[in-house]
Amino acid sequence: MLKIGAIMSSLEVIRKKIIVALDVPTEEEALKLVDRIKDQVGMFKVGLELFTRLGPSIVQKIRSQGASVFLDLKFYDIPNTVAAAVRQVVQLDVQMLTLHAAGGGEMIQAAKEAAEREAKKRGVSVPKILGVTVLTSFSDTQEKARPGILPGFRIDKMVHLMAKMAEKQGCDGVVSSLKEVAGIREVCEKGFLIVTPGIRLPGEPSDDQKRVATPREAIKEGVDYLVIGRTITRSPDPLQAVKKVLDQAGSISN
Ligand code: C5P
Repeated sequence: MLKIGAIMSSLEVIRKKIIVALDVPTEEEALKLVDRIKDQVGMFKVGLELFTRLGPSIVQKIRSQGASVFLDLKFYDIPNTVAAAVRQVVQLDVQMLTLHAAGGGEMIQAAKEAAEREAKKRGVSVPKILGVTVLTSFSDTQEKARPGILPGFRIDKMVHLMAKMAEKQGCDGVVSSLKEVAGIREVCEKGFLIVTPGIRLPGEPSDDQKRVATPREAIKEGVDYLVIGRTITRSPDPLQAVKKVLDQAGSISN
């Protein structure tokens, strides 16, 4: 009985770590998916495509279904402009947002301050601010093929450096590929959030992702959140796909 209880509670913990990337073209599809699986996952990620197409109303509609939102718009601009955008995001009562850590300390601090003030003013919780370090579309080989542009550029070193900088300036965490997680854990404090995309079930195609990991590998590595898109969104039965993810991730304790 005790063992079943322990497995159940670990499944609940894993469930909350799942962020479903709502990479679907229409409001109807997005809301249908939210309605179907919202009780089984932790959050929904609204990215550039959906937001550009549907605007803030899609976030409001997901929130009104009682689901949490990660607004992944990757802000990168002068501090004043980013702070103003963050105030707008806070008004939508989202739980997480992204900005490019490359925007620098002043920009991150401005974003953080704006988030805290606006949240207090509106009586909502302060969204977690995640820094994007180096886009995973960059690769060492690709940079080496263009010698002289970024001499000595090492992606892993850059990711760790930027994660540390983001933490110092007030980010709550970073988005990172699984490969960089251990290095980030070494340089950043305990509690600094790591959110990892590129997750696939064993045997699934990796599509355009250069490196993929299974839910179990990600959980084992200690990531805080797993961003999962097509594994769930392209499945004819998304609820069943979530269950498969939970089973695979949860089998860590078996
Ligand atoms: O369908 P899939 O699981 O590959 O989707 C992953 C999601 O995570 C997409 O929304 C993608 O834009 C996002 N993402 C990523 N790699 C990053 C940052 C975000 O795949 N480095």
